[in-house]
Amino acid sequence: MKINVAIIGCGRIGFLNDFKKNLTGTYSHFKTITSDKTFNLVAVCDLNTKIRNIIKKKYKIPTYKSYRELLSKHKIEIVVVSSSDNSHYKILKDLVKFKPKIVFCEKPLLQSTTQTEEILKIYKKNKIIISVNFSRRFSRYFCDLKKMIEDNFFGEIKSFELKYSRGFYHNAIHWLDLSLWYFGIPNKILTLRNVPSKSFLKDRDIDLKLIYRDVQIKIVGIDIDFLGNEELDIIGTKGRVTVNPEDKFTIYKIQKHKIYENTRVFVRHRQYLMKNGDLLKNAYNNIKKQITKKNVFNISSGETSLKLLKMIEDLK
Ligand SMILES: NC(=O)c1ccc[n+]([C@@H]2O[C@H](COP(=O)([O-])OP(=O)(O)OC[C@H]3O[C@@H](n4cnc5c(N)ncnc54)[C@H](O)[C@@H]3O)[C@@H](O)[C@H]2O)c1
Repeated sequence: MKINVAIIGCGRIGFLNDFKKNLTGTYSHFKTITSDKTFNLVAVCDLNTKIRNIIKKKYKIPTYKSYRELLSKHKIEIVVVSSSDNSHYKILKDLVKFKPKIVFCEKPLLQSTTQTEEILKIYKKNKIIISVNFSRRFSRYFCDLKKMIEDNFFGEIKSFELKYSRGFYHNAIHWLDLSLWYFGIPNKILTLRNVPSKSFLKDRDIDLKLIYRDVQIKIVGIDIDFLGNEELDIIGTKGRVTVNPEDKFTIYKIQKHKIYENTRVFVRHRQYLMKNGDLLKNAYNNIKKQITKKNVFNISSGETSLKLLKMIEDLK
């Protein structure tokens, strides 16, 4: 028996990222679900008539302007919420009465701890699982990096810098989630800069330092319109890792300089071009397991999103 799925929000990550692109892998919920034989994409919903018409005509999938109408007409087990950030609260609240098994929501799940606590309470009571698409948690590169840090591959970490663009709450949240995932809740957070974002309306452009016992993570906003690069640079006493603007993931080892005595340098050890076409597939595999098996670990749970919001709720 196939698992019935519906998508609410068929914009870029919902549908358009893969539309007319013929990419290797999948970059939208629509293509990920329709490429997996265990899923049945029963219907989709979007406020945008143009997008609904494309999906209805090309894919013969029922489309709705109202998610309530969709859910009252079809029995759905997995509801995907990939609509704009500010729509999540109302949609998540409304979904409960239709009793899906899992709601897979785009990040950020919600924008305040009060809303998140309220939603998690209702979902727990109704035994509905929430999973959130914090995509790095589904990336083999970032899973490997976590293990390398834990195995002390880089030695003592001297510098840990993460760069983002287009809004702190919209985008830096990925790096904050990575920090939480790798190291837990920091002992202290220092705000270095906090100004309105110019590149993402109603958001902030914030630089932070997350202080842990053994490491300090600096998160730096680069407020440039439409900039999609996210960069990472970790420097340790034994090695270094960078993710550059071209998505190259490079690992360096510290070695003796070939010419200069008593000098050591970082020398490239391995380099990959990060391919992110399997992130959504990995996320859906985790969701699938949560539906079909017992006691499966929810890689990116609603509770984690609550922890994340609590971590940054008192920022100055
Ligand atoms: N996990 C990731 O790496 C990642 C990447 C991109 C976007 N996102 C998240 O995905 C969500 C969507 O982002 P996007 O870039 O695709 O945005 P988008 O603006 O391209 O698409 C959003 C779509 O949602 C629709 N929509 C809004 N309110 C709706 C409602 N009430 N009912 C039905 N449809 C509604 C809009 O019409 C639009 O088509 C955001 O929350 C964003 O933060 C996550």
